Amino acid sequence: MNHFTSIYKYFKHFLTAKNTGGHGVHSPFMYQFTRYVLLENHPFYVFDSIERLRESLKMDRRVLTITDFGTGVNRTRTVNDIAKKSIKSTRESQLLFRIAHYIKAENVLELGTSLGITTSYLGSLSPRMKCVTLEGCPQIAAVAAENFRKLNLKTIELVVGNIDVTLPGVLASMPQLDVVFIDANHRSSAVLQYFELCLPNVHNNSIVIIDDIYWSDDMELAWQTIKNHPRVTSSIDLFHMGIIFFNTDVNKMHYKMRY
Ligand SMILES: C[S@@+](CC[C@H](N)C(=O)[O-])C[C@H]1O[C@@H](n2cnc3c(N)ncnc32)[C@H](O)[C@@H]1O
Repeated sequence: MNHFTSIYKYFKHFLTAKNTGGHGVHSPFMYQFTRYVLLENHPFYVFDSIERLRESLKMDRRVLTITDFGTGVNRTRTVNDIAKKSIKSTRESQLLFRIAHYIKAENVLELGTSLGITTSYLGSLSPRMKCVTLEGCPQIAAVAAENFRKLNLKTIELVVGNIDVTLPGVLASMPQLDVVFIDANHRSSAVLQYFELCLPNVHNNSIVIIDDIYWSDDMELAWQTIKNHPRVTSSIDLFHMGIIFFNTDVNKMHYKMRY
């Protein structure tokens, strides 16, 4: 999407979205979620070490060969370029942690590891949890694995390979998914396929987060399709990511919020 379209879409979102103050959110569940997850900014002790690692990656000049799943053409990129441009911000990464922490997630699945920053947040909830993350590019995955070792994160299982191939096997080993973060192939066909494959393993309290829902018209289409899926009861559109709920105790409602 070109820069102007992206600014226009953000501006439109800003004008039509509610403040995250919780006002106008009538469902008690959503009100609590808004207050204690979206608005919460209490730091957890794990945040500092992950952010120190992010800073060191921003200065890492190693050159990696990137496997591109869209075009199939390999190219090179430095670690610092990836760390600066292609991973979630500190605030958004910490939001992922808060979401998973709020529902006391024990089984977390991430599609799209990159350098492992969001994985490190999602895998830091407790020593007993399981966090499986899927990455297709071997050289990027090697840096992520190194990062998990540096942070001494033993909860994380990194699966290297094309998600189209690895996901069914991973799902067979994870009968219950509490949190799923979809941040890999930004094409609607892939996102919809991954979402559908995960559905049999989600339960009433599961939360699925879809990244970059306005990245392209095609991604917007994926978001609309997912929001309107019969299994989905509610959603929150934060522009940079969309949050999906399956809780049947909550009235079906779709929120747009400024974040
Ligand atoms: C946006 S990055 C993930 C960023 C990461 N979640 C973070 O914010 O820290 C997306 C990653 O997904 C990987 N990817 C894209 N399509 C894939 C596929 N079909 N199979 C496996 N990995 C894929 C890319 O190699 C890339 O590293």
